[in-house]
Amino acid sequence: MTSSTAAAVVLAAGHSKRLRSEQPKVLHEVGGRPLVSWVVQAAREVGCAPICVVVGSGADPVRSVFVDEDAGDIVWVEQPEQRGTGHALSMARDSLRSEGLALVLSGDAPLVRPGTLQALLDAAGAGWGSVAVADLPEPGSLGRVACEGDRLVRIVEAADADDDTLALRTVNAGHYALPVPAIFDWLEKVDAGNAQGEFYLTDAVSAAVREHPVAAVRVEDASEALGVNSRADLAAVQRVFYRRSVDALLAAGVTVLDPDSVWIDAAVTVGADSMLHPNVTLLGASSVGSGCTVHTGAWIRDSVLDDGVEVLPYSVLDGARVASGCTIGPFARLRPEAVLEDGAKVGNFVEVKKATLGPGVKASHLAYLGDASVGAGANIGAGVITCNYDGKKKSRTVIGEGAFVGSDSILVAPVEVGAGAYTGAGSVITKDVPEETLAVGRARQKNIKRRRR
Ligand code: UD1
Ligand code: MG
Repeated sequence: MTSSTAAAVVLAAGHSKRLRSEQPKVLHEVGGRPLVSWVVQAAREVGCAPICVVVGSGADPVRSVFVDEDAGDIVWVEQPEQRGTGHALSMARDSLRSEGLALVLSGDAPLVRPGTLQALLDAAGAGWGSVAVADLPEPGSLGRVACEGDRLVRIVEAADADDDTLALRTVNAGHYALPVPAIFDWLEKVDAGNAQGEFYLTDAVSAAVREHPVAAVRVEDASEALGVNSRADLAAVQRVFYRRSVDALLAAGVTVLDPDSVWIDAAVTVGADSMLHPNVTLLGASSVGSGCTVHTGAWIRDSVLDDGVEVLPYSVLDGARVASGCTIGPFARLRPEAVLEDGAKVGNFVEVKKATLGPGVKASHLAYLGDASVGAGANIGAGVITCNYDGKKKSRTVIGEGAFVGSDSILVAPVEVGAGAYTGAGSVITKDVPEETLAVGRARQKNIKRRRR
């Protein structure tokens, strides 16, 4: 993306009554990240600096979104009381010292693309300012825009619009490139005599249009104009977001059988020739290799799957690492630090946590493997449980290569089953089992003749 030295101001303060939420509006998430973080990222991608983010006063939780990253380019601006978008921008006056263009962005409109921001800067550079607009079939609560060609005539808020204006389908996407400090002088002339009793940024832009040319820049894709003012808007934005991820995967050679039912966060990668069945969810920092098949209902977060893995229906993977050729599920659960090495198999109703299953290990049915390591080729029978927790501390179970842990064995950790050892079905194993040894730890069966009266 072309670099610019324009500053950006992201308007991100306050709550929305219509969301009915305790959380600030821009902290609601799409694609696994808060709305505001997408807007800041788009500004970064066009090289904006500084990026002023307008938040509520004091320890506004919006600041915490950026604590984990290198946020040296962010300047925090406080707006103690939310009195409208124009008022919010005016709070940034002291932070925008140098003259020139500034991008002014709505923190609740996360679908905007960097290309649109660059187009706003380019168009504004040729005149006085610019505003991003789009044609939407259902413009809802968004501000209506009147244009003449690619020149803005005015913006009218939906709450203040008459029927003719409401019928306009062109909307204000809430992203602008505006000259600093000139825009602040126009903001000073704005009053709050409107339906919402707020100082509108749109009024300042509409007033400036009478003296200066303001370009209306049509966004590449109308969905970029969607802002989040309600839970319904949030759902609509989320849908577009996931659809964008799916489209990128389709273009990269992944088969997605039912694109509208698959939810994929933006950072997820999937290799070519993999196939995603309906209702698959891939979240966070997950990656899926090539030639994998992920069947319906799988929920995968922060997990790494190498090539040729098959995830059968309704399996849950969270923080797991899965090597090539493994099979998981149906109905399996891999929890954080579950590591499956090449060709391991975890079947139905098997839970694995903080445990490494070596190459070719099979745990096919109904088992719990926690705080364990299982050597290559070992077989874990149905119903095997590692008792890793004694009520106070967690202990490890070590199972050697080629061991055969009989069905319903209870392994009371800390305990070790040696390489090539066997445990008899139904055993409670409390002592280490040496290599190549059969351990039977269960009551001997007695057959007692029935007495009939
Ligand atoms: C605004 C525009 C509207 C446009 C829409 C695009 C105005 C008056 N209207 O309407 O024309 O179609 O965005 O999404 O600008 N904010 C503050 N402080 C405030 C008020 C708002 O920081 O005092 C922030 C909000 O957190 C939000 C952004 O500014 O991220 C936009 O405010 P919002 O109330 O959502 O405006 P809209 O009604 O959507
Ligand atoms: Mg909004």
